[in-house]
Order: sequence, then structure tokens, then C-alpha cells
Amino acid sequence: MRLYPLIRPLAFALDAESAHRMTIAALKLVPPRRPPDFPPSLKTTVAGLDFPTPVGLAAGFDKDAEVAEQMLSMGFGFVEVGTLTPRPQHGNPRPRLYRLTQDQAVINRMGFNNRGQPDAFQRLIDCTHVHGVIGVNVGANKESVDRIADYAEGVRAMAPVAKYLTINISSPNTPGLRQLQDEGALSALLEAVNEARPKNGPPVFLKVAPDLGEGEPDQIIRVAMQHGVDALIVANTTVSRPPLKSRFAVEAGGLSGAPLKSLALKALRDFRSASGGEIPLIGVGGIATADDAWERIRAGASLVQLYSAMVYQGPHIAVHIARGLAERVSLAGFSNIAEAVGSE
Ligand SMILES: Cc1cc2nc3c(=O)[nH]c(=O)nc-3n(C[C@H](O)[C@H](O)[C@H](O)COP(=O)(O)O)c2cc1C
Repeated sequence: MRLYPLIRPLAFALDAESAHRMTIAALKLVPPRRPPDFPPSLKTTVAGLDFPTPVGLAAGFDKDAEVAEQMLSMGFGFVEVGTLTPRPQHGNPRPRLYRLTQDQAVINRMGFNNRGQPDAFQRLIDCTHVHGVIGVNVGANKESVDRIADYAEGVRAMAPVAKYLTINISSPNTPGLRQLQDEGALSALLEAVNEARPKNGPPVFLKVAPDLGEGEPDQIIRVAMQHGVDALIVANTTVSRPPLKSRFAVEAGGLSGAPLKSLALKALRDFRSASGGEIPLIGVGGIATADDAWERIRAGASLVQLYSAMVYQGPHIAVHIARGLAERVSLAGFSNIAEAVGSE
């Protein structure tokens, strides 16, 4: 039985952050079980990792790696925990998370609230036997005097418990962080990451913003490829404000969900044309249906992730989208989802 239609009114009666905390607390009580079976046509390999489906849970839902195994049980093809910073931090003052229900969107200015990498490390050790893919997203502490050193520390510290690592330089809620996307800074950052990366360690992904200027995707692709980045995650939340109906539209922070969809799709296409398919892309932003995921895959994404649509539809969304993708693969006459990547 699907429980979310019953739980949703209760969750929506609470403010968004309390609802999120309640959800994590409830999920922690659920014993992890074997994930559902998926059609073999959805199996795909990216950066040397095997995924049962291309539909993943985006970073930010399970910041402290408390329920990664449960989310795999719910049918996500992979789960990204974090963002985790080297030292614990509280993040911005509450309220800092808003549901824009009329817009099927979310605005957040959490500011990397998390209990720190050492704390999550302990829990992730217990997950290393898990068959599924758990990626670890790392960031820099707000007060850090050397942000690049924080990323290097995150890579060194979390590599033993991560199937992949994500370098997140695209959160709009840590002032100045997005400047690490500039060519010179990005090059210095990725050099430090490569030095910290253990031999035979996990692949490294780079997560970028959807708010880039003309020519920036080309620069980022060039630098990422020079430094052997294994995949790009496109994209984080937007600081732009497309037309919105909700009264929370004026809140500061990053916007995600339905209004981000066209922007994130455009960013993905820009990165695809900049890379010519030479580097795997992971499409994120406003994905809520199998059609959205299919469109993103055909535009060049080898994998997709989502977060905001799960707030509105519940965790069953992962299975729902995966089954819809399997149908579309066979309707299009492909035998595997990988054949659809970039086929638009
Ligand atoms: C409440 C919230 C917190 C988030 N926190 C993080 C984070 O810590 N690190 C990160 O890389 N992305 C974070 N994100 C961004 C998501 O991973 C994703 O890139 C973005 O929400 C777009 O996808 P969506 O439209 O499916 O939500 C967060 C998003 C939301 C809504």
C-alpha cells in the first residue's frame, strides 16, 4: 500500500523543515529491505559504477547520511547524501525552507546545515556492504579560510565510504561559493581534489549551477576534462525567479522543482553541446514525471536525480518514473536506456 497520500496532509500541516525532520525520523524506523526489481533495460553503467535504474535521489534530502539504505529500498537507483562539510555547522537561521505548493516548487537557504563528515562517516561505514550506489556530496564550511582545502579534506575523508564523490560548488547559500566555478579557481580546486584523491578511489563528479553566463559551460567542461572529472551534475538550484504564484516567491535562496525544469534542461543541453558527449552528464532540476526524465536522458543525461517532486508525490516517484522509462525505452525500439542518451 502507498502510505504517502495518508502522510502528506500531516506533513503539509507542518512547516517545511519540521516536516522534513519528521520524515527522516520516520524513515529511520523503517528496516531497509531489498529494493524492487527493475527491467534489465534500465541497468546502466556510468563512471564504472552499475546502476539498476538511472533515477537517483539528489543531494540535500539526506544531508547526514541517515536514511540512504532506506531510500535505495524505496526504489531509487542511487542516493547522494550530503552536502557534508569537514566540520559540523548549523546553517542559516530558521525559517529557511519553503514549500511553494501552487508552483510545485521549493525555495531553500539552508546553508549547508550538517553534523560534519566524521559523524556521517560512522554511519556510512555500516552501508559499505550495501549493494546499491551511495554517493557522498562534499562542500566547504562557511567560515573556512581555505575553501579549497575543505574540498580536499572531504575527498580524503569520505573516499573510503563513497561509491562516488560530488564536489558541490554550486550552492547559492554559502556566499561566494559559486565563484569556484570560475576557470582559474576551478582549475586550482580540481588540482587539489586530484592530489587528495586516493589511488583507485571512487569517481569524482562536479555539481554546477543552472545560472551560468554565455561561454561558461565551455570553460567548465574544458577544465573538468583536463582534470579527469568523471561526470557533471547539471544542476543545482537557481537564484533566478521565473514567474511564481506562491506567496513565498520573494524568499531568498535557491529555487527548485517545476519552475527550474526548463532552465535545468537548457543548462544540460549547453553542457552536452560543450562536451560533445565526451563526459557523462547527470540531469537534475524539476524532474517530476517519466516524460521529464526521458526528455533529460534524450538531451544527454546518462542519469537523472530529483528531490522537490518527491515532496509533492512521495518516495514512490522513483519506481513510478523508472517504470515509465522502461516503457519508453521499449516504445522507442531501444534495448537499453543507454542507447537513448543524447538521442534527441
Ligand atoms: C531543501 C533542499 C536542500 C538541498 N540541499 C542541497 C545540498 O546540500 N547539496 C546539493 O548539492 N544540492 C542540494 N539541493 C539541490 C538538489 O540536490 C537539486 O540539485 C535541486 O533541488 C534541483 O532538483 P529538484 O528540482 O528535483 O529538486 C537541495 C535542494 C533542496 C530542495
